[in-house]
Amino acid sequence: VWATRGKRKNCPPGPMSLPLLGSLPLLKGQDTVSCLKELSKKYGPVFQVNFGSNPAVILCGYEVVKKALIDRGDEFLDRGKFPSSEKASRGLGVIMSNGERWLQLRRFSLMTLRNFGMGKKSNEEHAQEEAQRLVQELQAKKGEPFNPTTLFNSATANVISQILLGERFDYHDPKYLRVLYLLTEAFRLESSFAGQLYNLLPRIMEYLPGPHQTFFKYVYEIQAFMDQKVEEHERTLEPSNPRDFIDDFLLKMEQEKKNPQTEYTRENLMMTVFDLFFAGTETTSTTLRYILMVLVEHPEVQAKIREEIDEVIGRERPPALKDRLAMPYTEAVIQEAQRFMDFVPLGIVRMAKADLEFEGFTIPKGTTVITMLSSALHDPKHFKNPYHFDPNHFLDEKGAFKKNAAAIPFSAGRRNCLGEGLARLELFLYVTTILQNFHLKRPPGVDKIDLTPDVSGFANIPRQVELCFAPR
Ligand code: HEM
Repeated sequence: VWATRGKRKNCPPGPMSLPLLGSLPLLKGQDTVSCLKELSKKYGPVFQVNFGSNPAVILCGYEVVKKALIDRGDEFLDRGKFPSSEKASRGLGVIMSNGERWLQLRRFSLMTLRNFGMGKKSNEEHAQEEAQRLVQELQAKKGEPFNPTTLFNSATANVISQILLGERFDYHDPKYLRVLYLLTEAFRLESSFAGQLYNLLPRIMEYLPGPHQTFFKYVYEIQAFMDQKVEEHERTLEPSNPRDFIDDFLLKMEQEKKNPQTEYTRENLMMTVFDLFFAGTETTSTTLRYILMVLVEHPEVQAKIREEIDEVIGRERPPALKDRLAMPYTEAVIQEAQRFMDFVPLGIVRMAKADLEFEGFTIPKGTTVITMLSSALHDPKHFKNPYHFDPNHFLDEKGAFKKNAAAIPFSAGRRNCLGEGLARLELFLYVTTILQNFHLKRPPGVDKIDLTPDVSGFANIPRQVELCFAPR
């Protein structure tokens, strides 16, 4: 400990820290993000906080976040300590691994997502098909209020399922509904207060009962489902005709079986499939749900998107990816809603790869680094009205789409979100297909949809609400 202290002579400034609890008493339970932003006003864009007994360097504001993620991306490439995910993934898979394992699995995943995305049926076609099924399900509700969470989960899960498992599931299949339920709940539990506490004090929380234990139980049940899918694929694999991601991985395992250092193992296969499914379903469907909640609260914005749909696509033809460029207003609204939502406010923790000099401070090797995406998404130097929903943040005076470098809900650099392309594709197709067919409204008697998060921790999770989809 003292040796590390010695090295920490030039460490970033930060608040007082108590033994065991660290700076925890400062972080007011539910509101870690605003508390860190407050501390940054006092200590500057680079400061240090102790989470339990672990020091973490916090980067606040677009300039320093970008410097770490992009300009010096290689030095901040490694995933940092994230006890709940580490326990769940056992260091396997792509999200939590580092070094050669990460490099191999990331490359393989990106390439395979792309290849299957351009295969017999493209990701675009899969998402278009799911969008049409969503419309059918929504039509059956006849404009009555209902909570669309599970339905949206089914749609996004089906797109990633077709790439990974080569199959889509019926929206009413009980086995699948169970997996989707586990996914939603696991995500919520990881962001809950108990989930955050586990990440701060894992050695103590490990032995205490509570919602964090339910998180692990649910995650292991989803992993068992994925394991069973891998087993089915092993039994039915035809090497000349790989059907999906799992088949491709099994073939790669066969090719590499004489290499003792290979990362293409059965365990990494199951965990990578789990990672992609876990990271790719709830994130996209919750974002879609939030965009629609924002649109219910802003009927004028909804009307303008519908005008753009009528002009560019019309009422008959299903929306396609090629329409995106011709629809700057819709694109601006989606990007602004994602900025405003601030889904992953702290990013996913990184770590200093070596002893680093950064902005005049020394950051020792292995230190946890938090790149606050939220601080970029609300940076007043880059957004005129950071705490308001305003599509003009992404539009110029002529109404053309205006890119904003600080809009990084998917993070940035070499270790950014692996599914960004797929998520953007799905969000565009679902939003446009839904608005092509429906007016979104509040349920009768409800005079406001609360857009503030229900749970705010690892993720800002919006409230569960009912919406009305009135046919046009
Ligand atoms: C990582 C956000 C959808 C797969 C991440 C990260 C963020 C993020 C902030 C952290 C990157 C970093 O360390 O800097 C989102 C959001 C989504 C979304 C907001 C939807 C709106 C998806 C989808 C997939 C996916 C659809 C899968 C196809 C992953 C994976 C990682 C990741 C595998 C870990 C990457 C790595 O460690 O190399 N995502 N994501 N995500 N995301 Fe996403």
